[in-house]
Amino acid sequence: MWTKEFLSEEQLAFYKLHPWYYQEFEKFSIHTKEIIESYKNGNLKNDNRLPPYIGISLTYKCNLHCQMCFQNDRTKYTNEITTKRLNEISDEIASWGNKPWITLWGGEPLLNRDFRNIYLQFQNSAGVLTVLTNGILLRYYFDLIGDMNFQTVWVVSIDGTEAIHDDIRGKKGSFRKTLDNLKEAVKIRERTKSKNVFGVQITITKKNIESISELCETLITIGVDWIVLNHLWFLNYVESENYKKELLDFDFLEVSKTISSDGFVLDNSLIPDPILVKKVIDECKQKSKHGTLIWSMPNYDSSETNSHYNKDKPQKQAISCYKNLVKMDIDVDGSVVGCKQFPDLTYGNITNNSLKTVWLNNLRFQMEDKIIDSQGLSICHMCPDKALSKAYQE
Ligand SMILES: C[S@@+](CC[C@H](N)C(=O)[O-])C[C@H]1O[C@@H](n2cnc3c(N)ncnc32)[C@H](O)[C@@H]1O
Ligand code: SF4
Repeated sequence: MWTKEFLSEEQLAFYKLHPWYYQEFEKFSIHTKEIIESYKNGNLKNDNRLPPYIGISLTYKCNLHCQMCFQNDRTKYTNEITTKRLNEISDEIASWGNKPWITLWGGEPLLNRDFRNIYLQFQNSAGVLTVLTNGILLRYYFDLIGDMNFQTVWVVSIDGTEAIHDDIRGKKGSFRKTLDNLKEAVKIRERTKSKNVFGVQITITKKNIESISELCETLITIGVDWIVLNHLWFLNYVESENYKKELLDFDFLEVSKTISSDGFVLDNSLIPDPILVKKVIDECKQKSKHGTLIWSMPNYDSSETNSHYNKDKPQKQAISCYKNLVKMDIDVDGSVVGCKQFPDLTYGNITNNSLKTVWLNNLRFQMEDKIIDSQGLSICHMCPDKALSKAYQE
């Protein structure tokens, strides 16, 4: 995602295997670069550009209970955006000149009773549609996967070999369901030659580190297109408390009452040894030559890996977060938030306003300027999207 500047040769080669995907990626990459340059030149506020990327969280409900999940305690939202409103939003987006890259996620997005309807709507308005899912309910959508009219990036989470995955994800039998569904989905794609892409996310923890290499072998055999090894997102108590203090400086915005950072303070039993993390990533990346692209996010060297997992010291780093220049993140209740992982700062709500009104609101620029001026917040050092900042460092 984001821009070509930080892609490895292997990643570029992978994109080229899927011409429609590469073509879209190139378009988004150029658009992203132009926006960031326009911001740096001080021209962005006058140019009325709409977001190239939109993320929508469809629900915080979930059918699993993963040990590392930072959302496990997010019970604050009872009012999810209605399907009717989502359909209107999709119509608005369809009227824009450039079709954005839309990601549907959650919680578990396939748990939304209207998922089919929502998916079909956003197929009309998205340049590329991505769905992040735990894959348990994927079989109910096999017909969409076999439909030649749609091009979707399905990103399924699997965390280890059978017993380990079931333990981490809190449900016996969940590995079998997800893996069988994914296997069948890839077969349908092969049979129908539809334009779906299948990625898998593996979140690295102490509990699955020994099984990741074997899991990658299994996923390569199935024929998934790519595997991303996610570094664990976690905070120590001090970082979480520092972040809460930093939020006070954003008093011109609505600040959530249930601050998200508490969900990132994880049990030590989940935090892996950085040396083993680096080893398993290097080992798995070697397997990329078998046709399934494997990479890690963020793409760290050894010293960055060590610093990411050093949980003893707060790790505020100088980071320029450009995310809010290019991506609109909509939380489950319609609030438009500064960060999808930390949806505490809200600069508008699309329940009663058009996306365009919220996006072009000066509050977003005020928030962005403040985040850039403060060189990131105490939570930003472990952000998976840091690559965007890295690609545009001066
Ligand atoms: C929050 S889930 C939402 C979509 C869907 N329910 C799923 O599991 O894929 C999106 C991704 O975030 C990952 N995730 C959850 N908690 C994490 C953490 N603390 N660090 C890194 N990744 C995490 C999950 O493993 C999953 O791959
Ligand atoms: S399935 Fe996804 S949203 Fe649900 S608990 Fe696991 S990581 Fe969190």
